[in-house]
Amino acid sequence: MIAQEKYTLSNGLEVPKLGLGTWLVSEDTVAQAVKDAIELGYRHIDTAQAYQNERGVGEGIRASGVDRNDIFITTKVAAEIKNYKEAAKSIDQSLELLGLDYIDLMIIHSPKPWEEVGGANRYFEGNREVWRALEGAYKEGKIKSIGVSNFEKEDIENILSSCEVEPTVNQILVHISNTPKDLIEYCKEHDILIQAYSPLGHGKILKNPQIQQIAEKYKVSVPQLSIKYGLQLGLLPLPKSTNPDHMKSNADLDFEISKEDMTTLLNMKQVED
Ligand SMILES: NC(=O)c1ccc[n+]([C@@H]2O[C@H](COP(=O)([O-])OP(=O)(O)OC[C@H]3O[C@@H](n4cnc5c(N)ncnc54)[C@H](OP(=O)(O)O)[C@@H]3O)[C@@H](O)[C@H]2O)c1
Repeated sequence: MIAQEKYTLSNGLEVPKLGLGTWLVSEDTVAQAVKDAIELGYRHIDTAQAYQNERGVGEGIRASGVDRNDIFITTKVAAEIKNYKEAAKSIDQSLELLGLDYIDLMIIHSPKPWEEVGGANRYFEGNREVWRALEGAYKEGKIKSIGVSNFEKEDIENILSSCEVEPTVNQILVHISNTPKDLIEYCKEHDILIQAYSPLGHGKILKNPQIQQIAEKYKVSVPQLSIKYGLQLGLLPLPKSTNPDHMKSNADLDFEISKEDMTTLLNMKQVED
């Protein structure tokens, strides 16, 4: 089952090739979603300090009855934190909320605070400080691997030019009709695995007739085609669902997209809403 197949990160840690997203899943409902997903075979859960559901994610893991060491947990340092002290404190807080002894992967949520995403300040110094806090927790064994999210090439270069421990992952927006080829290529060259977030375009691409037509050809759903697309690009998709039927079919990917269709999907342009 794809949810239990693994990639190996540049530091040797194995990570399940498919993860469950939990953005906008409330603390009240996330524990059940995590438990359902683990019962269906998922072994990788993606959360973040900003999602305010880390406690529920931890509860779901414990309720599943599966050994914690067999589950891979990703969480993220909030985008607004851009100094060493607060970052270090937030890592300990995440551990406490999750109720875990270690986190498998912790990443910087965004190079810029959300309110300044369009701004000129790249926060190079701030990101180096947060990285230093992640490196410290990594060396102490609190985190098994460290990475980034929403980082462009220049943001990654900023880390690579000064780090002791290199980023293993960049979690970015990738779905059919939004494939940042240059950034994907750059990350591959630096042995940085891409985690593809919003692989279903927040659910928006489900009604795209061109994508529907290709999915029909393989007798699969658009979500299945979209997730398989990410996997065939060598990425790690993170589809979000609280519906066990959706979780199940999203991990049922026993088909192969042809080279020709992969090229069509790769070059598909974003369709406006
Ligand atoms: N690093 C970042 O900055 C960042 C940003 C955005 C997202 N992420 C991560 O990536 C995860 C996924 O992204 P996302 O939450 O934006 O959206 P997504 O996974 O692209 O789409 C989720 C939507 O698709 C629906 N869906 C899922 N499977 C389906 C199926 N088989 N059939 C029909 N509908 C289906 C879900 O509804 P149901 O619940 O009803 O199935 C939900 O409404 C997030 O949860 C988060 O963990 C990270």
